[in-house]
Amino acid sequence: MMKILVLGAGGQLGGELCRQLDKAAVGWRRADLDLERLHDIVPRVLDLRPDAVINAAAYTQVDRAEDEAERCWRINAHAVEALAEVCQRLECRFLHVSTDYVFGDDPRDAPRPFQETDAPNPRGEYARSKLAGELAARKCERHVVIRTCGLYARPEAKPRKGRNFVDTMRCLGETHSTLRVVQDQVCTPSYVPHVAEAMAYLLNSGATGTYHVVNIGHTNWYEFACEIFQRAGRDVSVVPITTAEYGARAPRPRFSVLDTTKYQQLGGPALPPWRQGLIEYFQEAAFNESART
Ligand SMILES: NC(=O)c1ccc[n+]([C@@H]2O[C@H](COP(=O)([O-])OP(=O)(O)OC[C@H]3O[C@@H](n4cnc5c(N)ncnc54)[C@H](OP(=O)(O)O)[C@@H]3O)[C@@H](O)[C@H]2O)c1
Repeated sequence: MMKILVLGAGGQLGGELCRQLDKAAVGWRRADLDLERLHDIVPRVLDLRPDAVINAAAYTQVDRAEDEAERCWRINAHAVEALAEVCQRLECRFLHVSTDYVFGDDPRDAPRPFQETDAPNPRGEYARSKLAGELAARKCERHVVIRTCGLYARPEAKPRKGRNFVDTMRCLGETHSTLRVVQDQVCTPSYVPHVAEAMAYLLNSGATGTYHVVNIGHTNWYEFACEIFQRAGRDVSVVPITTAEYGARAPRPRFSVLDTTKYQQLGGPALPPWRQGLIEYFQEAAFNESART
């Protein structure tokens, strides 16, 4: 049986990959290997001798990264360099997860979804460190860089504020009757099980290179919040605001939609429309709820 090392096993995507890859997965959390300890990476992975490495671990706190740049770069860029080096030495496949944020703002007048070949233009420490991570991952010949966007994992027993946008909205919806949500950022919220399924296919297909893997279509955070409350059956009044009014610490791209044609042409599992992801999330939440009562 294949031995696939999944880094970030305690996170949204890493956890789901471990679930889907089942017995083939060796899931490591930060406690198993702290990616900040750069000198530990090569010997620890050499010791395990995996057939493939999937790096779903990352410093993901976009705003805090502005104040913790060094730490962010160590995890998102320098650790990836060590992972690519050890994968090259083992001649194993290296799947590394990146982000739509590498594109930043689209300089074109009429933006269209970004293709893998479009020039990156990251803004902010998180985005720049993730682009550096992509460049590092490509030093391994058998690399796959997967860019994704707006992840939300299967529901847990109770939604947790800060885990992802859907969980955060559900938590806030319990205590607020009105919420202000940004309307001028277009993106594709993506359901983690769909992304993980596509990644498992990429792993087994032998593909190499860069692939965009997100649900199909696009929306904005305001519309997405409205859809969440409708499906959650919550009567929350959602007020659209601008990015400037919200005033986040790190810059956010205004049109951050990824073109998935390259992935789709491989003929793997279809990427469902983004609304389908939300439907499945709430179906699972309802199932969990009924199993508890
Ligand atoms: N979330 C999104 O909306 C989004 C969008 C686009 C791209 N991405 C990319 O997708 C990937 C997965 O994201 P996610 O949402 O699954 O992230 P997540 O839930 O925040 O999980 C990230 C994992 O990385 C681990 N980690 C952080 N620092 C570490 C360290 N020093 N050593 C070892 N492990 C460390 C964390 O462990 P602890 O739990 O112990 O801290 C956590 O389990 C990332 O590469 C991210 O950049 C995410």
